[in-house]
Amino acid sequence: MKILVAGKGGVGKTTISALLSFLLSKKGNNVLALDTDSVPNLAQSLGIPYEEAEKIIPLSKNEELAKERTGASPGEGWGVLFSLTPKVDDLANKYGIKINKNLKLVVVGSIDKSKEGCLCPSIALARAFLMHVFLSKKDIIVVDSEAGAEVFGRGLAEKFNVMLCVSEPSLKSMQISKKLIEMGMELNISNILLIINKVEDILRAANIYKKVFSENIPYRIVRYDTSLIRLEDEGKGINKLPQDSPFYKDVENICKKIISLKKMSKASSI
Ligand SMILES: Nc1ncnc2c1ncn2[C@@H]1O[C@H](COP(=O)(O)OP(=O)(O)OP(=O)(O)O)[C@@H](O)[C@H]1O
Ligand SMILES: [Mg+2]
Repeated sequence: MKILVAGKGGVGKTTISALLSFLLSKKGNNVLALDTDSVPNLAQSLGIPYEEAEKIIPLSKNEELAKERTGASPGEGWGVLFSLTPKVDDLANKYGIKINKNLKLVVVGSIDKSKEGCLCPSIALARAFLMHVFLSKKDIIVVDSEAGAEVFGRGLAEKFNVMLCVSEPSLKSMQISKKLIEMGMELNISNILLIINKVEDILRAANIYKKVFSENIPYRIVRYDTSLIRLEDEGKGINKLPQDSPFYKDVENICKKIISLKKMSKASSI
């Protein structure tokens, strides 16, 4: 199961990716969480202290590794031929950060050329790595993506079978989500779930949803939760969030949905 967590900036993609990965792993699934943001911060949400998280070099910025695997260093110019099929099968083990027994994190970094400048060999390496993990036998892959629509223009988005489109409970945010969901549909992502996050007034959120989505897009509500702010202030990871907090309970609900989708897809492939 390959889950893409998408949405506009600041809506809660990383926080939801972190708790979802954590809960799925807690239920015994083998989970690989990938951070493909140009300013990665999933590590912190997963409980890695800021000082340590800051030291992680994203794959798409690891020039030394790119040189070793592709034979070319960034800035060598366009004329340099580098291997387009670099060896990547050991990268998840080598660069994966073990969060718990069943959960590993790889900080990939952005693979969008416009964001990373001309680090072409490193980007080629990061892309090859993503392609490789998508074909691997991992139970569940959760990808925390860069804000906006870029993720749909990489030739990668169509590899996902679940898209969680995170939105805020406002008209503008849901209108943007609608566009992202349409892009996901065009790419035939089979399961699309809208997540309306930071909800304080459930009725209002449901009314905005009705206004924006004429088609029946399945959605889940995640309530606004002040315990997340406390957690961040204390520099703690999502694993320290109280189990009776609204955010925990609502994401647990989404986790259940994902597990049921996984069971269904297993059953249909028999
Ligand atoms: N349900 C919620 N209740 C209260 N605060 C929330 C909730 N969900 C997320 N937040 C807070 O919103 C802020 C942004 O969340 P997060 O970093 O997960 O968003 P993002 O979509 O990943 O942002 P970016 O686009 O910058 O990557 C964080 O401070 C987070 O704690
Ligand atoms: Mg984020």
